[in-house]
Amino acid sequence: MKKDQRPIGIFDSGLGGLTVLKTLRRFFPQETFLYVGDVARLPYGNKSPDTIRRYGEQILSFLKGQDVKMAVVACNTASTVFLQDQSYQGIPLFNVIGPGSQAAVSTTKTKRIGVIGTSTTILGHSYQKKILELDPTLTVLEKSCPLFVPLAEEGLGGDPITQLVVEKYLAELKQQQVDTLILGCTHYPLLKADIARFMGVQTHLIESGEVLAGLIEEHFKLHGNRGDQGLLRVCTTDVTEHFLKLAQSLMGADQVKELERIVL
Ligand code: DGL
Repeated sequence: MKKDQRPIGIFDSGLGGLTVLKTLRRFFPQETFLYVGDVARLPYGNKSPDTIRRYGEQILSFLKGQDVKMAVVACNTASTVFLQDQSYQGIPLFNVIGPGSQAAVSTTKTKRIGVIGTSTTILGHSYQKKILELDPTLTVLEKSCPLFVPLAEEGLGGDPITQLVVEKYLAELKQQQVDTLILGCTHYPLLKADIARFMGVQTHLIESGEVLAGLIEEHFKLHGNRGDQGLLRVCTTDVTEHFLKLAQSLMGADQVKELERIVL
């Protein structure tokens, strides 16, 4: 069958979405990906839904100009705002809230799920709504953790200061004995070891990547639009040595040789 070499677009407010990209590349090594990190306007997590929609639409319109075959809203905060949108100007859209919720619902045994995310994600209750739609008998406890993003961006995973912040934010969820915790922000996997250490082995930590990959696989089966070039472009709205180093430590220096600066 003829290959579709158009890239898969994927975006986040910053570089945290590279954690999602990494999982997707593991599942689809043949696909070309075009990543956009809006680092010049980070953080999204404390901005209003209206502003995030405007930023998101600017990125989607850039991706449309690049002729992507689909777009993944990797940012949980933006996913909260674009939750009902199945497509953007003809481009199929995937978000991370549905997949993360599905993974949590199939993991919990005690029926108590915790969700952590940015203020805008938590105030939007998108995970809670989605989980209760899937199973109304579950209890969902939510907590915003605004300081996790700067800690992750500063590469402070494993630092004592991160342990203190983790303890402050998560003590209540731990006390309420959730057995499943959704890492509802792309940056949080970067602090996964700190969060796991505090919550203990009985708590399962959920990321959306693998279930999301399953949904994309279904899409490919339906549309037969796979590629086979396996290229990667990483574009950001600001370029600094700090972000390049962070991207390289996440993806491997051989994978990200440079950040391409874009203006939206
Ligand atoms: N990437 C965002 C998310 O997944 C968090 C970072 C931000 O606040 O911009 O929600």
